[in-house]
Amino acid sequence: MSSWKAVSGTWEDSLEGKTGASTEDAFTISGQTAENFLYEADIKVSGDEGEGGAGSLVFRADHQAKNGYFANIDALHDVVKLMKIEDGNIIVLAEKTISLDTDQTYQLKVDAFDENIKVYVDDELMHDINDGTFTNGHFGLNVWNSSTLFQNVNKGE
Ligand code: FRU
Repeated sequence: MSSWKAVSGTWEDSLEGKTGASTEDAFTISGQTAENFLYEADIKVSGDEGEGGAGSLVFRADHQAKNGYFANIDALHDVVKLMKIEDGNIIVLAEKTISLDTDQTYQLKVDAFDENIKVYVDDELMHDINDGTFTNGHFGLNVWNSSTLFQNVNKGE
């Protein structure tokens, strides 16, 4: 994945991977776009017990992440959310409670095919919904209320 541009927050590349840090929602957006794809990353949210926040895969987004979808693991609230951003407003499309720890790596995967969007954590299906708002757009990453490491950020078909 190439030509990343930080839209908000602090994003750093290291040998380990890509780290994003922000208290508010922050995004980095890749120059690559796609309609239908698999998109995955290994995500580790830093923080002590009861702290930390969330890391997300962003997809079918615009340059400024004002429109598009994102799926997160939220280690503060122990949830996996699938969300949509429309004109900058976040709408939660689906939410599932699972136990998530800070300082632990989880694989998050999105399978988007036409209107169907599936979200997996460690290959376990979390969400399977249909939404036709956005059919194409940029890949990206999001952090919220944390410093979060992303490794093996990959897209497939
Ligand atoms: C929306 C939201 C986002 C944040 C996420 C954390 O419900 O608060 O702002 O990225 O949830 O789970």
